[in-house]
Amino acid sequence: GGGAVAGWGAALALGVDAAVAAPSSAPAAVPSQDTAGLRGASTVPFHGPHQAGVTVVPQAHSTFVALDLVDGVDRDALGRLMRLLTDDARRLTQGLPALADTEPELARRPARLTVTFGFGPGFVASAGGEAPGWLGPLPAFGVDRLEEGWSDGDLLLEVASDDPVTVAHAVRMLLKGTRAFATVRWLQQGFRDAYGSVPTGTTMRNLFGQIDGTVNLVPGSVDAEDLVWIRDGWLDRGTSVVVRRIAMNLETWDELDRPGREQSVGRRLDTGAPLTGTREHDEPDFDAVDAVGFPVIPEFSHIARARSADPRERFLRRGYNYDLPPRPGAISESGLIFVSFQADPVTQFVPVQRRLDELDLLNTWTTPIGSAVFAVPPGCQEGGFVGETLLG
Ligand code: HEM
Repeated sequence: GGGAVAGWGAALALGVDAAVAAPSSAPAAVPSQDTAGLRGASTVPFHGPHQAGVTVVPQAHSTFVALDLVDGVDRDALGRLMRLLTDDARRLTQGLPALADTEPELARRPARLTVTFGFGPGFVASAGGEAPGWLGPLPAFGVDRLEEGWSDGDLLLEVASDDPVTVAHAVRMLLKGTRAFATVRWLQQGFRDAYGSVPTGTTMRNLFGQIDGTVNLVPGSVDAEDLVWIRDGWLDRGTSVVVRRIAMNLETWDELDRPGREQSVGRRLDTGAPLTGTREHDEPDFDAVDAVGFPVIPEFSHIARARSADPRERFLRRGYNYDLPPRPGAISESGLIFVSFQADPVTQFVPVQRRLDELDLLNTWTTPIGSAVFAVPPGCQEGGFVGETLLG
């Protein structure tokens, strides 16, 4: 199989990617560590070969905004837009007010704020650039019930922080800068375990109660370096992001008993261990059978179907829960903002999604309702801007 790879927790324990995992030294504007041990002042470095939000230990809150460019926005305008957005992102992530910040106090608690930019096909076309072959809608899947209002877009902003107030403020400051250039197409707000609620590095739980993200690429590992980052053209040291909004039907999930729930994924709900193991990171044994000869981990379980024999068919999952007000008559409107980073979505993500589309017990309770793919350009150095390799 693909081989079990420990998640973010292991990355922390190993000290891998310490530069982004740990709070960095901050500029003079904010102390590097609150005396009370709070995290509000913690910053993630903005500059570097990669955009910081891809591999940083996931923050508790993340908002994804997709924008549509207005007519007539050309290459020059896109250059101005990305300089402006980069400048504000650079300031805000370091705990400094945006250029025309109307609520500067809200900028003083970055709480590991990162801003990640992604370009859709329309953006690259308007820039007169060369779009990679994979940049565009994914192939249609049988399970899809996609809504236009949650799909596609020209420009993605992912704004993530451990403080939801910080996220709201940063999103608003950035969107102010886009006004003359673009309109909001969709916005998705997601959350994970609150900062301080569970030990840092604990694998998140989704709203089915499952530990979600156990087998994942470890940022900084050789595998992740190779499978996440692109190594040529204007996307050199960039990546791609797939954002899929997947509704989770908690009402029908409620009708399923605990063994049924565990069999649908192939893992225990309490520890996240595979049904053949005792600890979260135990390697699943897909060949083990029970007393009457049935596989202990059902063949159609999510983990049996999601795992590929081809080690290249892997990606960095970094999803968030969502929970909206229920529609009339319902009591929940919940799901997962599935997010994965990979060098090539067509060769890495699509084969896995295709297998899950064919057969996955979890499909009974999950429905993809949105889908988008963006090219995530590399990071920039001081004085530079995100997108300069395309627009500069
Ligand atoms: C594993 C939940 C959608 C790919 C898992 C696990 C859970 C889970 C609980 C086991 C723990 C872990 O290793 O993370 C969900 C839910 C989904 C969903 C609730 C939808 C709402 C997807 C999608 C994909 C995907 C759309 C990709 C197309 C994977 C992979 C693994 C995994 C690759 C690891 C498999 C392995 O053990 O090798 N998921 N998942 N999941 N999921 Fe999902």
